[in-house]
Amino acid sequence: PLRVAVLASGRGSNLQALIDAQRAGTLPIEFVLVASDKVHAHALRRAEAVGIPTLALAPKSAPTRAAYDAELFARIAVADPQLIVLAGFMRIIDPAVLEPWAGRIVNIHPSLLPKYPGLHTHRRAIDAGDALHGATVHYVTAELDGGPPIARAEIPIHAGDTPEILAERLLAEEHRLLVAVVALIAAGRIALDGTRVRLDGTALGAPLRL
Ligand code: GAR
Repeated sequence: PLRVAVLASGRGSNLQALIDAQRAGTLPIEFVLVASDKVHAHALRRAEAVGIPTLALAPKSAPTRAAYDAELFARIAVADPQLIVLAGFMRIIDPAVLEPWAGRIVNIHPSLLPKYPGLHTHRRAIDAGDALHGATVHYVTAELDGGPPIARAEIPIHAGDTPEILAERLLAEEHRLLVAVVALIAAGRIALDGTRVRLDGTALGAPLRL
C-alpha cells in the first residue's frame, strides 16, 4: 500500500473519506501520519479513532513561519510518506520546504482552478454569476493553488445558492474526487513529470474530470 500522510486544519471530512475508502478495502493506502496546525482540529480525532498516528504542531511553537514549516515537514519526513495529501490544510507552505516533496504532495481546493485560488471560493463563484463550480486536486508547488491540476469535479450553481449551501453540495463531490485521485496515484497511474501530469505515461492535455 502507498504510504500516505494527511495534513488537515479543521473538520477533516476529506480525511474521513480517505479513511472510509481505505477501510472498505477500495483504496490501497496506509496512513503513516495525520498532522495539523490546529491542536483541536476534529481531523486529529478522526485519525485517533482509527489508530492513525497524529501530530498536532501549533505555529507559535516555532519562531518564524519558515522554521515552523521546516519543523512540520521534518516531522512528516520521519513518518516516511510516499504521498502527502493536503485536505483542508489552511496554511501557505514555505517553497523551500516544499521543494524536496515536488511530485509527492497534492492539495484539494474548492474551486475550478485556475479560477479562485485562495479563500472564499464559493462566495466568489456565486458573486461572479458562474453557472459552474467545482473542486480541483492538484500537485502542490510554490505558487498558491497554482500547481499542475490532476483532476476536477464540477457541479452546477443554482439560483438562490448561498456560499454555505454550495459548499455543502460541493463537499460530497470533493470526497469522491479526492478518493479517486489518491486511488490513481496509489495504482501508480498518475505522476508529475516536470510541470506535466502524466496518466499511464501520457501527458494530460486537461485535468481529468472525475
Ligand atoms: C474543503 O472544502 C477543502 O476543499 C477546503 O477546505 C475544506 C476542508 O474540509 N480547502 C481549502 O480551502 C484549501 N485552501 P474538511 O476539513 O471537512 O475536509
